[in-house]
Amino acid sequence: MIRICADLESLSHAAAELFAAEALQAVQDRGRFTVALSGGSTPRRTYELLAREPFGKTVPWQSTHIFWGDERCVPENDPRNNALTARQTLLDHVPVPQKQIHPMVCDRFPQQAAVAYEALLRDFFPDGHPRFDLVLLGLGANGHTASLFPGTAVLEEQQRWVAEVSVADEGLHRLTLTAAAINQAALVVFMVSGSDKAPILRNVLKEAQDPHSIPAQLIKPVDGGLLWLVDRDAARLLRQRKE
Ligand code: 6PG
Repeated sequence: MIRICADLESLSHAAAELFAAEALQAVQDRGRFTVALSGGSTPRRTYELLAREPFGKTVPWQSTHIFWGDERCVPENDPRNNALTARQTLLDHVPVPQKQIHPMVCDRFPQQAAVAYEALLRDFFPDGHPRFDLVLLGLGANGHTASLFPGTAVLEEQQRWVAEVSVADEGLHRLTLTAAAINQAALVVFMVSGSDKAPILRNVLKEAQDPHSIPAQLIKPVDGGLLWLVDRDAARLLRQRKE
């Protein structure tokens, strides 16, 4: 499903409202809400909104468990660190118990960090399916999502839930949930904003399947929902009924 919002601000409000609704439903149904946050710049405004009223009061933060879809393997105080961004914009302002916040810590030994984070997830989801209630994702202009980059071996990974990725043109290692793990989620929401994302968004949604070149096409929840929250600028190349 694609929902076209007027701009990033309205996209962010829609995302925050969806986050709150999913959280309330999950806690009502199962007593907890599990979410994997996205990195990048697009979700920042959503996180800022969630840190304020009415969401400060409406979201059941005490029953919320925070994970990440991916992380850059840099020190936790490095401005590129996704967990740092989430703490600054959201987590330092809402009462999620610290023991329920699970950052990917990979600035020293990425391979061991991937194994450790997978063990944490398998302990948290003992039935063998990492069924996050919500996974938030962004879309890179080259078709990557989380840290599933074009041409990387992690795209073929069917068994592991977490893998380390070396991103050559960044000179960085990263950790990422694999597509196999993301596709176990109850709901996956892409947030895509800006005119520069219009070509890749069209390619992801309208072009023939080519997930090796466009990894975002790997995201097809097995038994869950998939929502594209996009703004008008990003959707300018899609012929789609506007909302
Ligand atoms: C990251 C993200 C990455 C991001 C896209 C879009 O750590 O960089 O996980 O997948 O979502 O690159 O980034 P923007 O939202 O900044 O365009």
